Amino acid sequence: MEKTVDLRSDTVTLPSAAMRQAMFQAELGDDVYGEDPTVNRLEALAAERLGKEEALFVPSGTMANLVCLLTHCGRGDEAIMGHLAHTFLFEAGGSAAVGGIHPHTVPNQPDGTLDLDDIEAAIRPPDNPHYPHTRLICLENTHNRCGGAVLTPDYMAQVRALANRYDLAIHLDGARIFDAAVALGIEPAVAARGADSVSFCLSKGLSAPVGSLVCGSAAFVQEARRQRKILGGSMRQAGVLAAAGIVALESMVDRLVDDHRNARQLAEGLARLPGVILDPATVQTNIVIFALAPDTLSASELVARLAAHGVKMGDIGGCRLRAVTHYGIEADDIDRVLVAATQVLAAGG
Ligand SMILES: Cc1ncc(COP(=O)(O)O)c(C=O)c1O
Repeated sequence: MEKTVDLRSDTVTLPSAAMRQAMFQAELGDDVYGEDPTVNRLEALAAERLGKEEALFVPSGTMANLVCLLTHCGRGDEAIMGHLAHTFLFEAGGSAAVGGIHPHTVPNQPDGTLDLDDIEAAIRPPDNPHYPHTRLICLENTHNRCGGAVLTPDYMAQVRALANRYDLAIHLDGARIFDAAVALGIEPAVAARGADSVSFCLSKGLSAPVGSLVCGSAAFVQEARRQRKILGGSMRQAGVLAAAGIVALESMVDRLVDDHRNARQLAEGLARLPGVILDPATVQTNIVIFALAPDTLSASELVARLAAHGVKMGDIGGCRLRAVTHYGIEADDIDRVLVAATQVLAAGG
């Protein structure tokens, strides 16, 4: 049977043989006592790669972000974030539901940034009792809903300078920060510079089965560890999962360039098809978001018809689709996707 080319997300990746082997052989202990040597190794490695003092292993990217927001903000405090931020759109309102944190959205620009003037206008004067206290600015790199857009170190430095003027913290949702670093040709620590906390995922492009990390200062991570406990995210012999994460960090980062090349090839091919609205120059990493012209198929029709050709993409609403390249997707798979999309769109509505 022909392979299904699943481009819905880089979260569908399966662990490599080396990861499974490392999981099988992992040295284990009780991580809630701090005694799992494999978790400890993963946390040290993550902190080092992200240029922060310490790191904390958590089950998911959603929990990583929530732990960070709960660590930075108290009940009624305000966190500034983009209207397309994952923390705002796709985390079930967790920071409000669990932490009483008030999200204050400002528009995301198409390149994933928040305009500095918009951020500044959103910061509340601290001495007026009508307002919540602004505590935090949340950024996302790469930016999922902005098509994998990359934030530059220069932009991070500008937000840092602004945050310093108002004594605010910065949290970076770096679920795909390794993609950003690879695309910019810089170390992840440089991409994370300026952020007080950064979260990143092992189970997206890095292909580990489970897990994310929270990185920050030793004091921040100490409190984050308590928040993880509150959320029920402290795990016992978690080294069985962390072992795959270590392999991910050591062997799956350099290959992200292949995903970026495949995404660019996909974008260039799709952009040539009738009815597809897409500027391939905007594709910087492994996410391709495109729209369909009103006189062609709807996004859900295209998704259904591609599925009949063994190709999966995501319908993200508003005539738009998302395709994400990842480990297990090769250049000839992209050729197959383009042949299928050509046939489906030529057949029309
Ligand atoms: C930017 C971003 N942050 C956070 C997450 C949440 O990660 P998880 O699915 O592990 O909870 C995702 C998942 O897609 C994401 O794209």
